[in-house]
Amino acid sequence: MDKASVLVINGPNLNMLGTREPDRYGDMTLDDICRKIKVHAEQNEIRVEFFQSNMEGELINRIQEAPARFSGIIMNAGAYSHTSIAMRDAVSGIPIPVVEVHISNVYNREGFRHHSYLAPVCAGSIVGFGYLSYILALEYFISLARRH
Ligand code: DQA
Repeated sequence: MDKASVLVINGPNLNMLGTREPDRYGDMTLDDICRKIKVHAEQNEIRVEFFQSNMEGELINRIQEAPARFSGIIMNAGAYSHTSIAMRDAVSGIPIPVVEVHISNVYNREGFRHHSYLAPVCAGSIVGFGYLSYILALEYFISLARRH
């Protein structure tokens, strides 16, 4: 396995970025965001792959499989962050760090978005910085790679 290889997982409705509530989420598509992440990763010698699904079980399968090929995960689980004990169990069951990200600041939105089942089992959470939330999460893995 490469020293630093990161899987970026996006959950439900994030495939709709660009047209979904642009006032809240911006007008970049998920492909635009993935391209930005890839450029930043390549500049810092990190291998990066992307996976998006609207289906909880598919997301869990990818989380379970990730340690065989990746040294970390950046994950925007969308609404599953606020609902899914099964995804939390998947994250707490793997030995690689997961960073939770959200494009919007979930803490200035509806109360049901203030709780994340994932946050307590993640290395950290980055919320509210638009697509830069992913880049900041990547910075964590870049600094880990430099330390090793
Ligand atoms: C989101 C925040 C979630 O509350 C919401 O359900 C999403 C997007 C974000 O990136 O800001 O789907 O994860």
